[in-house]
Amino acid sequence: DNDRMIIAIDGPAGAGKSSVARKVAEQLGYVYIDTGSMYRAVTLMAQRARVTVEQTAKLADLVKSLEIELEPGEQGQSVFVNGEDVTALIRTREVTLQVSHIAANETVREVLGIMQRKLAERKGVVMDGRDIGSHVLPQAELKIFLTASVKERALRRYREIVDSQSITLAQLETEIAERDRLDEQRDISPLICAPDAIVLDSTAMTIDEVIHAIVKLSRTKLAEAK
Ligand code: CDP
Ligand code: CDP
Repeated sequence: DNDRMIIAIDGPAGAGKSSVARKVAEQLGYVYIDTGSMYRAVTLMAQRARVTVEQTAKLADLVKSLEIELEPGEQGQSVFVNGEDVTALIRTREVTLQVSHIAANETVREVLGIMQRKLAERKGVVMDGRDIGSHVLPQAELKIFLTASVKERALRRYREIVDSQSITLAQLETEIAERDRLDEQRDISPLICAPDAIVLDSTAMTIDEVIHAIVKLSRTKLAEAK
């Protein structure tokens, strides 16, 4: 089916992946899949079960026991684990601080990678994450590596926080830089730009400009395939 493709959008935290991927999917009539939410869901469940990253066997059992479902919702996507809506619970700072450690586990990546490939089987998907174009779906017709300076990404996250008393901009910058480091340096499918990905630096771009650029690239790809 030449009319539906797979679009992979990878990049560091705060680059604009989810905001952009959701809208691109909407414009193309595709399904949006946020793979970061899956790593966050596993992290939440590990915290609840008091399973640490060091307990690799327990973590493997845990991830295999989870049924993760993604459903399109008003705020982009709702996430369910074993039937429970965890959409809001996976966005806490507690989860954010631990997710990159959990995401470095081999079995966690293997299990979630299988789920992600299944979700992309029917094509017509925009999937965002860290390793989608490089590892999970190397056959993706369009790969975008979306990035922005750490300062700009921290600022974007800062603006999202209503109660910014609880954390400073400098703190956010440090946490984002640390997550970048962990994601880039892990052994298994780290955050890297696939050789055939198109790099978009969104530091000085609005969300609409990025959406427009990606939709345009996808139309060019589709025309080429015909
Ligand atoms: O939304 P934000 O950019 O803060 O991060 P996310 O997309 O929700 O991803 C959270 C974390 O999950 C990342 O920092 C990575 O450690 C991990 N992740 C990953 O390892 N591989 C993916 N394909 C997606 C996320
Ligand atoms: O998914 P990812 O972590 O890559 O980023 P996001 O959650 O989509 O974007 C982080 C924040 O930056 C959101 O509040 C966006 O509205 C904002 N943003 C922006 O101000 N300008 C852009 N070009 C992209 C995102």
